[in-house]
Amino acid sequence: MTKRVFVTRQIPVAGLDRIRAETDCVVWPERLPPSPEILIENARGCDGVVTLLSDRIDAAFFDAVGPQLKVVSNFAVGYNNIDVAEANRRGVKVGNTPDVLTDSTADIAVGLLLAAARRMREGLENVVQKEWLTWEPMGFIGQDLKARTLGIVGMGRIGQATARRLHFGWGMKVLYTSRSPRPEVDRELGATRVEFSELLAQSDFVSVHTDLNPQTTHMFNADAFRQMKDTAVFINTARGGVVDQDALHEALSTGQIFSAGLDVTDPEPLPDASPLRAMSNCVILPHIASATVSSRNAMAEIAADNLLAGISDRPLRHQVP
Ligand code: GLV
Repeated sequence: MTKRVFVTRQIPVAGLDRIRAETDCVVWPERLPPSPEILIENARGCDGVVTLLSDRIDAAFFDAVGPQLKVVSNFAVGYNNIDVAEANRRGVKVGNTPDVLTDSTADIAVGLLLAAARRMREGLENVVQKEWLTWEPMGFIGQDLKARTLGIVGMGRIGQATARRLHFGWGMKVLYTSRSPRPEVDRELGATRVEFSELLAQSDFVSVHTDLNPQTTHMFNADAFRQMKDTAVFINTARGGVVDQDALHEALSTGQIFSAGLDVTDPEPLPDASPLRAMSNCVILPHIASATVSSRNAMAEIAADNLLAGISDRPLRHQVP
């Protein structure tokens, strides 16, 4: 019997065409996510769903959609939008799309680091606002990158790819925090695993690559920013919830740190009234790290593979633990 699925947004045809061909599927056609009520309405009675990180999948969702559901295939590597323990308890498999966005995300981390260190937002605004008067010997002076110290918080795939770029490209010395030692990274990059407080105190650049969980929620709080150098640049391409944004705003506006580059915020989009939006030393992108042709196509292929395997009781290509 044809399986029913709901796909919560248009995703690249590299995956969607196969889902369309092999299932009875409804694809949410709007640019904005479906509301929780509409999500449930469409997913009710389905065998599988393809979700985005903006879709909350929790006990209430599972209760409402019914026991038919076999798989939640998340079109993302992160899965903090899904209550995985609750899914496991009900025998629903959860899939994600790792590896294929590692390089694109590391590229954005480096891009944000360059932009924030070299005050590119201020430079761009200066041109757009028609305030560019002349070449200024004392203007827009930023931070050097060469041979400085990089602190990676979370030395997984994306943390390593970011560290590699900055170590081999700019000769940075690499410090990191990680749940377990990474001897292969220590050897390859001459990196050193340190305590969080040492990383904060020693690093010229701090780049976040940890997942969001109860231990990492708001780990970048007022106390953490106080321990950083006043020349430090803070980069987050992981999840907005890792940062206490009021504390970040305070650190940026009082000169406790030099600048920040964020691809993720909490919530997303960042509210119009958020004071971070107005900070000229804060470069903010609308969560675009995986937005390249090959990453998004490959994510769609994996999301389709995970979905089609899950609804047919086969092992997923990438199942989250
Ligand atoms: C994006 O943030 C992802 O988790 O894929």
